[in-house]
Amino acid sequence: MIKIENKFLNRIVTYFFDASMEELKNLVDGEIVFVTDRNIFNLHQQKFASQKTIVIEAGEAFKQQASVDYIIAELIKIGATRKTTLIGVGGGVVTDITGYAASVYMRGINFAFVPTTILAMVDAAIGGKNGVDVGLYKNLVGTINQPQFLLYDFNFLQTLPNEEWVNGFAEIIKHACIKDEKLFTDLENNSVDIYKKDVQFLSNLIKKNATIKTNVVIEDEFEKGDRKLLNFGHTFGHAIENLHQLPHGYAVSIGMCMAAKISEEINGFYSEDKLRLEKLLKQYHLPTQCSFDKANVFEILKKDKKRYDASIDFILLNKIGEAKIQSIPLTQLKDLMNQIL
Ligand SMILES: NC(=O)c1ccc[n+]([C@@H]2O[C@H](COP(=O)([O-])OP(=O)(O)OC[C@H]3O[C@@H](n4cnc5c(N)ncnc54)[C@H](O)[C@@H]3O)[C@@H](O)[C@H]2O)c1
Repeated sequence: MIKIENKFLNRIVTYFFDASMEELKNLVDGEIVFVTDRNIFNLHQQKFASQKTIVIEAGEAFKQQASVDYIIAELIKIGATRKTTLIGVGGGVVTDITGYAASVYMRGINFAFVPTTILAMVDAAIGGKNGVDVGLYKNLVGTINQPQFLLYDFNFLQTLPNEEWVNGFAEIIKHACIKDEKLFTDLENNSVDIYKKDVQFLSNLIKKNATIKTNVVIEDEFEKGDRKLLNFGHTFGHAIENLHQLPHGYAVSIGMCMAAKISEEINGFYSEDKLRLEKLLKQYHLPTQCSFDKANVFEILKKDKKRYDASIDFILLNKIGEAKIQSIPLTQLKDLMNQIL
């Protein structure tokens, strides 16, 4: 087990890589309550045998306040106290909901995550953003609060469906686009299948990506500046994700292509690099476009959390490995959408 301590503003968060869920009992004082979703629970029941477990329904459609209310009702039934540690074992839906429920139950109890998807391992479980969707509006309600620790048990990945591997690689490609050209080239020289076959190779990739995300967050925990770079591909991505019931990674992939086109139009991003990005996304079986209703998408964009007055903070690429924040007036964004779509 590799132990790395990361110093966030209000908490040191320890990441345990190459670990096993059985080691949790040595890491937590007091009672543990697990939160997981039905798919993971059914596939890995033996891992939950020793502790109380709250099982929520799987999928983004259940990342709503009703699931938080259910968890709170179960915690009351269990008799959970301020000494209880809530541990979210799952993908980003479970970790987002668990962090939020733990942050509000009794005004805040300890919590930790065991991420079980690639996406949660490299992204969702890191950084302390927790919350739920409200109807179609993604992550509209929530908190920023760091977990005590993350435990990476790669054993879970044996049951991860192929579609979810692909989803996770969208965020890995995003990290390469905004921060790491060398990672982009490494990805060009490999494939999902190669990473799947070699646990150590995959573990290194996950550690590298967890570190990229962690460092960006540590520099700007409350998203006043550079943390916004992590939203590359997400502004459009979030708008089309719930509207078209797309998997998160697919939506982000399409969003990155749109952002690359806008970068080409107004930021001098090279057309060849835009094509390189599209080729890489296709190599990792990710979509680069989809048809959607521009008017509906625009209505959702207008409610985006990154909108200030009549402008929206958009993440553009200067080149592969380097991104910037640019405020784009909604009127210009509408014109750009009409131009590039
Ligand atoms: N908080 C953040 O900073 C942040 C960052 C990125 C994404 N997110 C959020 O993360 C969510 C997406 O996360 P996700 O893609 O992990 O989705 P998810 O949690 O819905 O998991 C995807 C599917 O995989 C199943 N699954 C999970 N682990 C499995 C395993 N080991 N074996 C078999 N099946 C397994 C789940 O049951 C689910 O059906 C979105 O809601 C997104 O908004 C949050």
